[in-house]
Amino acid sequence: MSSTGQARILPSLLSADMGRLAEAVDLLEGAGCELFHLDVMDGHFVPNLTFGPPTVKALSGAAENARFCVHLMINEPENLLAEFVTDRVEYLTVHAEACPHLHQTLRQIRNLGPKPGVALNPGTPPEAIQYALKEADLVLVMTVNPGWGGQSFIEPMLDKIQTLVRWREQREDLKYVIEVDGGIGSTTVSSVLDAGARLLVAGNAIYGTSDPVEEYKKLEGIAKQYQ
Ligand code: DX5
Ligand code: ZN
Repeated sequence: MSSTGQARILPSLLSADMGRLAEAVDLLEGAGCELFHLDVMDGHFVPNLTFGPPTVKALSGAAENARFCVHLMINEPENLLAEFVTDRVEYLTVHAEACPHLHQTLRQIRNLGPKPGVALNPGTPPEAIQYALKEADLVLVMTVNPGWGGQSFIEPMLDKIQTLVRWREQREDLKYVIEVDGGIGSTTVSSVLDAGARLLVAGNAIYGTSDPVEEYKKLEGIAKQYQ
């Protein structure tokens, strides 16, 4: 199965202490983590609010080597993309449901520097973005409804991952890596890896525990077995 690279765990800072985000990054950088997931929520696309460009910039300045995968759960992201670009932002991901001109928005991201990503809510079929997939370096399959950490994994999303893997195998022009987000932990990690996801976001399963380093290493140890 073509999978586009080594699987890895992306800790989501949503479940970390919001007053000590730089320390939360530092802690897991020390454990070998190089890519973190940042959840930006606007109180409209999702009911919850988190943080915006100043925090992404501050973390980019504070981190030693870490890079970030920024997950924009915001309406009209096309108006704010440039604000989220730093030399540490590797992936910048918008939601398909928030982008009437997705193809153009993904190109806009690439022109700004980061790798473009597109996210799908659990209820959005992959067919909705098929026309624009050539422009995406990453497809984020939400495995919970976006907005909160600590929810339960939605099992039927495994089929969506498999569909995206199949399309990538069938078409030479598709190169995206598949990321999953929501409810990932020791009981679900193997099933999403088996289905073909290679970037696995974990918030509560890491920062929601008393020993984030230990939990990160445990999950990363499983992910490392997948290429
Ligand atoms: C939810 C966010 C997730 C969240 C996942 O809307 O997009 O990144 O942090 O949290 P867990 O891993 O706790 O389900
Ligand atoms: Zn997320």
